[in-house]
Amino acid sequence: MALTTSKKMFEQAYKNGYAIGAFNVNNMEIVQGITEACKEEKAPVILQVSKGARAYANHTYLVKLVEAAVIECPDIPVVLHLDHGPDFETCKSCIDGGFTSVMIDYSSHTFEENIAETKKVVEYAHDHGVVVEGELGTLAGIEDEVSHAVGSYTRPEEVEEFVTKTGVDSLAIAIGTSHGAYKFKPEQCTRNEKGILVPPALRFDILKEVSKRLPNFPIVLHGSSSVPQEYVKMVNDNGGKMPDAIGVPEEQLREAARLSVCKINIDSDLRLAMTGTIRKFFNEHPDKFDPREYLKPARANIKEIVRHKLVNVLGCAGKADECK
Ligand code: G3H
Ligand code: 13P
Ligand code: ZN
Repeated sequence: MALTTSKKMFEQAYKNGYAIGAFNVNNMEIVQGITEACKEEKAPVILQVSKGARAYANHTYLVKLVEAAVIECPDIPVVLHLDHGPDFETCKSCIDGGFTSVMIDYSSHTFEENIAETKKVVEYAHDHGVVVEGELGTLAGIEDEVSHAVGSYTRPEEVEEFVTKTGVDSLAIAIGTSHGAYKFKPEQCTRNEKGILVPPALRFDILKEVSKRLPNFPIVLHGSSSVPQEYVKMVNDNGGKMPDAIGVPEEQLREAARLSVCKINIDSDLRLAMTGTIRKFFNEHPDKFDPREYLKPARANIKEIVRHKLVNVLGCAGKADECK
């Protein structure tokens, strides 16, 4: 099928207690790893492109890679989404350039400015059959070049006014997740009986309060990588230096998906899988220099981590047909 919007996906995800995986794409191997897993697991998928990805790989290359994946995976619905659109112009360029969904992230501006810019994007997007994600609250971490040392939780008392005045189709909220591989400091965590660091729980109270005020409305979680320790170890055992990389526990993401969270953004986990695999390959084969030889296992591990997310975390494996 052709590229689609996330409208039907979110309706089904909300009703049936699962979430759609939104994975960032930057090159061919990442697109292939993600979509091969989705094809085999019959899962709907959102492929998302950041401003940084467009700067790195070029808009046209990314659109064509995603179109190639749609041809190779004709039985699953695929959305092409702009991640963290910084302004109206970037959103317009993606809407005009074949995207089916855009995010306008004006969350670091004032509430009034956020409403005004988001509304402008929604009007243009809806006129072109494209859906829009807005954001309230700011996540800590790094988005493109912008680094937020501290985040601020979403204020539930603002969400109805924001959604009503802007007309957005989904809303990203801040409940304690953050971007990147260092989401929590070790001193914020406790150790469980196996000695593993357990980060503080996400603010499910905020999520529930938001959902009470926005019934049947799809919520989005950014910064939702779980930073698998096997890959952190693989990086560190093979010349890398990523001390204290800690992510969001997967059980909490599964719980969020059972509630009103319909889209879960995952990027850092794929980066870790790719980097760990390539580091290991070079360590074990210092004489090799054919990119296909190290990109092949990297792509295979991206595929397996995505499969794990679809089946065990998001709950969207086998849901492709009902999302069409
Ligand atoms: O939220 C940010 C995403 O992980 C994309 O990262 O801006 O480095 O492409 P990027
Ligand atoms: P992670 O850094 O946790 O993978 O989050 C990705 C994200 O939110 C992309 O928008
Ligand atoms: Zn994000």
